Amino acid sequence: MQILNSCAEAKKFINTLKFQNKQLGFVPTMGALHHGHIALVEKAKRENDLVICSIYVNPLQFNNKNDFTLYPRTHESDLKLLEEVGCDIVFFPDEKILDGKDFFQYDVGFLDTVMEGLHRPCHFMGVVFIVKALFDILRPDTAYFGLKDYQQLAVIKQMVKDFEMPVTIIPCPTFREHDGLAMSSRNSRLTKTQRENASNIYKCLSNLKSNTVHKTIDNLKNDFINSLKSIPEMRVEYIEICDADTLKPLETLHSSSSGVACTAVFLGEVRLIDNILLF
Ligand code: PAJ
Repeated sequence: MQILNSCAEAKKFINTLKFQNKQLGFVPTMGALHHGHIALVEKAKRENDLVICSIYVNPLQFNNKNDFTLYPRTHESDLKLLEEVGCDIVFFPDEKILDGKDFFQYDVGFLDTVMEGLHRPCHFMGVVFIVKALFDILRPDTAYFGLKDYQQLAVIKQMVKDFEMPVTIIPCPTFREHDGLAMSSRNSRLTKTQRENASNIYKCLSNLKSNTVHKTIDNLKNDFINSLKSIPEMRVEYIEICDADTLKPLETLHSSSSGVACTAVFLGEVRLIDNILLF
């Protein structure tokens, strides 16, 4: 497994790769890898000649300093997992990746006004900056993103379109623990009790989905909030039901349109997000 420790090293390496005409698949991550990440690498491995995974805890996308400081950093076990799955190249960007951040301008537009955009100011601007910088350096043919971060995927698709970038974005299904909790690097920060209670997020999303036929959107959202309210240390930041393509809030549900329910829930200090496609 080739390890690239700087942007300069990565640029040089990619230049030589481009001469060999290899199809390159890319999986950007912030490390603390779990099987959700690894599934992305496996899919990229199946669908490309070579797979590159980047590991960088991007300071620009954290609107909460504590969350950035406490974000798990597990480079050794990350490398072990990537080696096991046959990842070809790992890229650890140095601080040069942030060059140009002060001059970067991009209007995330509507997607910055709802859900994650609304509750985490500047988050998507930080994501767009770093993913664009990574795409510019690595010039991948395909890039793999999890549906777990549903709105992020929508923002990335929009960015690729807006900048006319020659990369195909591949959405990948959400990997879950046995009790339904979506795998997340932040799960390791939960206490034992919080971890047990966290499975209720997906249970309530699944209940919401099974009730879509006979309940209004307001009722579905209120039921979701009320079911989680009684659980110690749990607080729903938002639950939204929106169009699965545009992420515009839906006013009514009918099976001809595609819908998605997205939520952010705090367990103590730890903030988790999840979503479920409705039809
Ligand atoms: P990170 O949270 O490390 O996630 C990296 C990729 O793994 C994202 O595409 C995310 O959607 C996907 N992923 C995370 N958990 C998953 C799960 N349970 N099942 C399937 N896929 C999952 O998302 C980021 O990092 C950053 O914002 C990044 C894109 C790297 C930019 O800094």
